[in-house]
This record gives sequence, structure tokens and C-alpha cells, in this order.
Amino acid sequence: MAGARLGIDLGTSKVAIYIDGHGVVLREPAVIAVNRETDKLICGGQEAWNMIGREPPSIKVVMPLSHGTISDYDYAERMIKLFVRRVCSYKMIKPRAAVSVPTSVTEVETRSVMQAVTAAGIRQTVLIEEHVAAAIGAGLDISQPRASMVVDFGAGTTDIAILSVGGVAVESSIRSGGMDLDDAILRLMRTEYALVIGKPTAELIKKSIGYAADAPEEVTMNVPGRDAVTGLPVVRAVSATSICKAIDETLISWEMAIHDVLEDCPPDLVSDIYTDGIVLTGGGALLKGLDKRLSNYIGTPCRVADAPADCVAIGTGIALRRAKGNSAYNVNEFEYDFAEWSTDH
Ligand SMILES: Nc1ncnc2c1ncn2[C@@H]1O[C@H](COP(=O)(O)OP(=O)(O)OP(=O)(O)O)[C@@H](O)[C@H]1O
Ligand SMILES: [Mg+2]
Repeated sequence: MAGARLGIDLGTSKVAIYIDGHGVVLREPAVIAVNRETDKLICGGQEAWNMIGREPPSIKVVMPLSHGTISDYDYAERMIKLFVRRVCSYKMIKPRAAVSVPTSVTEVETRSVMQAVTAAGIRQTVLIEEHVAAAIGAGLDISQPRASMVVDFGAGTTDIAILSVGGVAVESSIRSGGMDLDDAILRLMRTEYALVIGKPTAELIKKSIGYAADAPEEVTMNVPGRDAVTGLPVVRAVSATSICKAIDETLISWEMAIHDVLEDCPPDLVSDIYTDGIVLTGGGALLKGLDKRLSNYIGTPCRVADAPADCVAIGTGIALRRAKGNSAYNVNEFEYDFAEWSTDH
């Protein structure tokens, strides 16, 4: 695997790595666990995720990314290094990598991602906007003089773009994602069910009985937690309809963001989207009924891409493979200019 090219999806909740010729070779929660006293790394990824809410006081579990960008530089660097080493041997030539970032990323956040990836042992790094990577990974031919629209529903960000002739016509990135749905569920559990649960349980409820629309009345889930009044362990039957109501406000904010992008879009491009529909990517696209809810709201078909949570990693890897030089990359026969965001070491 000498001189490998990696596509790295550095997400708020997970890191996925694509290697040219091998596909997506790593999918791990973006979490590490360290010893609180010595700060020594204990584990990362799924193993660390399983510790959340269960860790002893001597262990600190850290999620070093927030809303798609690095919030804790030191731990992010150690986490990236751990994952890169898992897929690349120590002996090989340092790999090159393309890394996805949300459009809302600031200059300082951009520099911090570049530095962390470089410190993790990557020879040359370029950044790619998450929605462009998502579109390429979903198999859209964005080089055509015809508009494609993609919405990537991540854990911390929702990235929306209309692409045509290899460029981004209109885009938006909001700092709201699947984790906001988990927070809404946590609040609901406390206020309506008097139940205290942890974040992993809230996410499990969302994945199991979360519906964006038309939640079946009869569907319930037995949720274990702590009674907010007595402090004792209990199990409560939680209904899908109550979850649907609790997450509605966040879903409306996503609809509004999509609406704003369509409103800013030139009319000819809108008509392409009306005919061809919208592609949904990111793990959040798997929320039951989200495609149907958006189709009804926008009035155009919305379809979930194949393996939506892998699209960004795949697209990032493909963009790097099609690179022509160090700074300008040929993506679907057009030049996607990474010049501003590239570094060579
Ligand atoms: N079946 C499912 N139903 C609902 N939500 C889901 C499902 N599967 C995954 N998710 C949610 O998708 C989100 C993770 O998606 P993804 O991996 O695309 O995010 P990310 O890349 O880590 O975040 P970001 O792009 O915001 O930085 C999480 O909030 C997760 O709970
Ligand atoms: Mg993402």
C-alpha cells in the first residue's frame, strides 16, 4: 500500500477512511478514551464509544470534533493518528489524503484540520467541501450542465448544495444535525417520561423508533433509564409518536435551510432539480420517513443514496484519485480547484 491515497471523512460522530482500490476500510466513532491522570491514550473508536456513560472516574472519554470541526486539537490529532495507523502500516511511504470539511468551516478551523492530519503522518493534504464529496460519492455526475442537488445530513452539520458544470451554484451549511435530534429526545425523556438516559440511548431510540413523519401509533420501545424523581432504575414504554413530535422543530429548521437554498437558486437550475429530484446522504438520511417528508415539503422526489453514511468518504477518495497535480484536481472531467486549501510536505 506504498504511497496510498486516503479519502478521510472527518465527521462529528465518526471517521471513515477510503483507500483507493480498497473502498471504505475504516468506519469508527470519532471518540477516544484517555487516562485522566497520565493523559495516556487507552483506546479509540467503537471501544471508546462503548465506554460513554460507563467510564470510571480515572478515564476520560472525548469526542474531539464538534459540528464537523475540531474542538479539541490535541485529542483530534491523536485520534486521527490512531485511525490512519490502523489502515496504513508504519513502514509504508507516508500517504496523501483528501479530507472533507463542512462549508461553514472558518479559516482557523481549516488550518487546525490541516495541521492535525499532517501531524498524524499524512504527507500531503487537501481539503474538500463535504457536500461536493457527498455528491461525488453518491454517484452524481456533477460535471454536466445540469443541476444536481445533494443534502448531507451529518451528526453535527447539514450541508446542502446545488452543483452544475463542476461548480457549486448555491450552498449552505447549518450547524445542526442528528445530534440535535438526540438532544431533543433527551429533553423529551426528562420532561414527559421523567426518565434520565444517556446520549447513546437517545441515539438508539432515534434509530429504532424515530420517524420524520407518520409515526405508527402502535410502535413503542421499552427504554431503560433512571427515574428522574426517585433516582431508581426503571423501564418506560416510549411511543414513536412522541419522538416524532419532539424532533419536529429541528426537522423544520432543516426544511427551512433547504428552502432557502432553493430560493437562491437560478430558475433554470431549479427546473432541473424539479425533474431529477434531490439526493440525500449522511447517516441522518437514514431517519425513517425523512425522504418522504422532504419530498412532500419540497414537491420534488427525494431519494436516499446507497450507503449514505459512506458517500463523503468515497467522494473524498475519488476526488483525490482524479487529482492532476498538487493543487488542481480533475473531478468528473472538470477542474475542482483545491489550490487554496492544499499543503505539500
Ligand atoms: N438509522 C438511522 N436513523 C436515524 N439517524 C441515523 C441512523 N443511522 C445513523 N444516524 C445518524 O446519522 C448521524 C451520523 O451521520 P454521519 O456519519 O454522516 O455524520 P458525521 O459525518 O459524523 O457528522 P458531520 O457530517 O455533521 O460532521 C448520527 O447523528 C446518527 O445518529
Ligand atoms: Mg459528515
